[in-house]
Amino acid sequence: MYSAKQFVIKTLPTPGLPFNFDSTDSKATFELKTLELKESDLKEGEVLIESLLLSNDPAQKFWISSVDKNYAAGVQVGEIIPARGIAKILASKNGEFKAGDYVTGTIGWTTYAIIHDTKKAFLRKVSKEQVGDLSWHLSALGGTSLTAYFIFYHYAQFEENEKFNGKTILISGAAGAVGIVCIQIALHVFKAKKVIATAGGPEKIRYVEEFDPSRVVGVDYKDSNFKENLIKAAGGPNTVDLFIDNVGGDVLEIGTELLKPHSTLIVCGSISGYNDPSKLIYKSFVSVLTKRLTIKGVLLGDNIADFGKGLTKLSQMIEAGQLDISKAETLVDCTGEKFADVPNVWNGLFSGTNKGKLISKVNEY
Ligand SMILES: NC(=O)c1ccc[n+]([C@@H]2O[C@H](COP(=O)([O-])OP(=O)(O)OC[C@H]3O[C@@H](n4cnc5c(N)ncnc54)[C@H](OP(=O)(O)O)[C@@H]3O)[C@@H](O)[C@H]2O)c1
Repeated sequence: MYSAKQFVIKTLPTPGLPFNFDSTDSKATFELKTLELKESDLKEGEVLIESLLLSNDPAQKFWISSVDKNYAAGVQVGEIIPARGIAKILASKNGEFKAGDYVTGTIGWTTYAIIHDTKKAFLRKVSKEQVGDLSWHLSALGGTSLTAYFIFYHYAQFEENEKFNGKTILISGAAGAVGIVCIQIALHVFKAKKVIATAGGPEKIRYVEEFDPSRVVGVDYKDSNFKENLIKAAGGPNTVDLFIDNVGGDVLEIGTELLKPHSTLIVCGSISGYNDPSKLIYKSFVSVLTKRLTIKGVLLGDNIADFGKGLTKLSQMIEAGQLDISKAETLVDCTGEKFADVPNVWNGLFSGTNKGKLISKVNEY
């Protein structure tokens, strides 16, 4: 018998607006429930899992409260909060998995769970032996690193030859999980001439510049002179070859001014607008026409067939010293009673508590 703690939706949030994190409020977004799970409850095809690590992703905002059904359906009252993570199989009535296997997939904000449909949860086995820590499967070898890989190799169509070396690349949200992998691929694989990296606050600027102080110019978007500083860092308008945008809002407007004619804007995320829809407006749209820009929208889930290829490449980068695992993640202890902190830890993504991938540990392993 396992006593599971699970966060479910208590009150449906208004799409696009911030969630209510006050657990004492009758209109709180989340509710912490406990339920008893038994191996004998398992039906054919199901597995009983123990959650170990939870991935914190800005996109969960839309998995929970949909603003566009093309992307996610949203969650209803009483349903578990979706989250990717790493878990251990405790018992199985599914031929693909056995007790003791480690898996990654959509497991939810829960300490234990019965997964009814392992395909729908994208459950797949991961090894504990071939990595330094299981957390690598969420950080350096996780979805955000894969996103960075696909940004360069699929969306921007970069190839490993001289033609793609020596570029000037602008990366917003640069100190986060996708951002730090983009910086390193730009520097170490595609030998960028300059990486302009935006992030919030002096500590994060130091963190991004440490990847190569001679080629990374960090720009603090919280500084009152952000616009002037960013234009100066790039060397003026029409100087950037590739802009990877994780943030939207102001940086998207200034970054568009910095892009060269015929260059590419990769829209990976717009986190500045996830709690503030007024930031989701693109005022510089006319420049797409006047500069003949190419804009590519990214969706990691569209690339599942190539995950194996991406993971092989990321592993090679780690081995070759091109991807530094030591800087890849921020791990927060949410074991035991601290499981109650899971929503607030996730919300830290929106105030920038993390460097690299933000991961919550919910059970010891
Ligand atoms: N398209 C896809 O398939 C895909 C896949 C993964 C991620 N994404 C997107 O990529 C972006 C980064 O995701 P991630 O998982 O790597 O998260 P992350 O960057 O590790 O964490 C979010 C970071 O965003 C920054 N931030 C928060 N609010 C901000 C604001 N108002 N303005 C500017 N920066 C803000 C914070 O850093 P600071 O301290 O620097 O503010 C925070 O650390 C998100 O937009 C996400 O939705 C897209």
